[in-house]
Amino acid sequence: MQNYLITGANRGIGLELTRQLVTQGGALVFATCRAPERADNLNELARDNPGKVTVLQLDVNDESSIAAAVQAVSAAAASLDVLINNAGIFPKGDHASRGLGNLTSEALSELITTNAVSPLIVTQACRDLLQLAENPRVVMISSGLGSVQATRGGPYAYRMSKAAMNMAARVLAFDGAMAGITTITTHPGWVQTDMGGAGADITATDSAAGLLALISGLKSADNGRFFRYDGAELDW
Ligand SMILES: NC(=O)c1ccc[n+]([C@@H]2O[C@H](COP(=O)([O-])OP(=O)(O)OC[C@H]3O[C@@H](n4cnc5c(N)ncnc54)[C@H](OP(=O)(O)O)[C@@H]3O)[C@@H](O)[C@H]2O)c1
Repeated sequence: MQNYLITGANRGIGLELTRQLVTQGGALVFATCRAPERADNLNELARDNPGKVTVLQLDVNDESSIAAAVQAVSAAAASLDVLINNAGIFPKGDHASRGLGNLTSEALSELITTNAVSPLIVTQACRDLLQLAENPRVVMISSGLGSVQATRGGPYAYRMSKAAMNMAARVLAFDGAMAGITTITTHPGWVQTDMGGAGADITATDSAAGLLALISGLKSADNGRFFRYDGAELDW
């Protein structure tokens, strides 16, 4: 049995990752979200699959909620095999209303905190449990928009936040305190979710299937690399 912790598991890519892990079998998913009482689809999945999904409250921006969730995982599982830092934000109108001339440090900070700082804090909190696993992995759900090389303009805050997330993954990969843990960062594709919109390229089903195949095949040589959901390696 492989133990997974996923942030933002109540909808979008996080919910689909959880659904597919449950369907495949062999995994116990600690499916975390900031408001379990409103997570109807996730609660239904947990109800229909007893013993395979544990729903936990975790707001990635709230360190006490991170600590409580990690405590609950350690009470239920001997180790954590995979942490997927999936939760993220890209407020509607980020392109138009938050361009140069309209930038505020508050709006920039909110994105950078949620998309880059908090996943690092969650990873730090999970490290001890991860190091008890045989092949522990940390997966950042980042974005192609975080690639510095591929950038040709676009939304400041989101691009900056995902570039910082990529850097966090890269530093973690070389950190002796993370010994034995393989850390990667990923682009899930342009996905049909609330964030991606209905006109996006691929379904959450295809994105999650690709990500899970990638995660299950990860080797220590992949530590510190940046992958698309289909396994292609991306430019930084
Ligand atoms: N969709 C795309 O095309 C696309 C492309 C590239 C990268 N990504 C990345 O993929 C990840 C998942 O995106 P998605 O498309 O599934 O987006 P989504 O449908 O908007 O879902 C975002 C998830 O993140 C959660 N979240 C936001 N802030 C949180 C917080 N403070 N604490 C805990 N959870 C929080 C949301 O929870 P609530 O329901 O409580 O808000 C929700 O579960 C994100 O990191 C996103 O940046 C998506």
